[in-house]
Amino acid sequence: MLLKESKIIITGGPTREWFDPVRYISNASSGKMGVALADRAFKISKNTVFIHGPISEHLVKDKPYECLKIETTADLLEEVLSEIEENSVLIMCAAPADYTPVEKSEEKIKKQDGDIVLHMKRTPDILKNVAEAKKIRKLKNFFVAGFAAETTNTENYAMSKLIAKDLDMICLNDVSQEGAGFGVDTNIMTLFTRTGLKIELPILTKEKAASEILKQIDAELLKRGD
Ligand code: PMT
Repeated sequence: MLLKESKIIITGGPTREWFDPVRYISNASSGKMGVALADRAFKISKNTVFIHGPISEHLVKDKPYECLKIETTADLLEEVLSEIEENSVLIMCAAPADYTPVEKSEEKIKKQDGDIVLHMKRTPDILKNVAEAKKIRKLKNFFVAGFAAETTNTENYAMSKLIAKDLDMICLNDVSQEGAGFGVDTNIMTLFTRTGLKIELPILTKEKAASEILKQIDAELLKRGD
């Protein structure tokens, strides 16, 4: 199964976890890396879907592929689980919030004197749920690439995620480096594959980085010879 014959599902952007009608917890993902991957993926397979959190409208305006907007990590999980199928490639570039407030107030929380404490609980781990679904549904020809946004001990954390999340590839970006990660137009990445490859990429535009990631996924699919 080659990439051009696969359904390619890309996720991008942040999620938002609301704790009252006007305030939320989120992160600085702009969605640029996800859009670059989806643009490149569509050039390879017309069966491309982009699932994204709240990002600037102009980034997804008039795209020739399907763009599905979600808000929370729970929404993202639901959408990803409904899109994955046999002969598909999932690239989890989104930066889902890892915590969500335990309670969401129906009304705007009024300012008070002194501090407030916000109780948070873990959101579902989407990639771990995907790994479970892959086993339960016995999905054939299914390839999963995750990302790792790290600031310390980067390689070790990326390798642990590759194993813990049962990934075929992980794209590590050391987001403490200038020109890498959140918001900027470039990225600096190292790709690790389940097959033991380590590919260090120089600083590249997100478009070129996306192209390198997809090239490597295609090579991995070719190795499988399915
Ligand atoms: O959007 P940009 O501004 O262009 O920035 C791009 C980026 C820095 C967001 C992107 O390159 C990136 O690194 N995305 C992953 C961010 C992230 O959530 O990394 P993580 O190391 O916390 O998570 C590891 C993997 O688990 C990721 O594939 C993530 O999508 C996934 N995850 C995370 C949380 C969660 N609850 N479930 C998940 O499956």
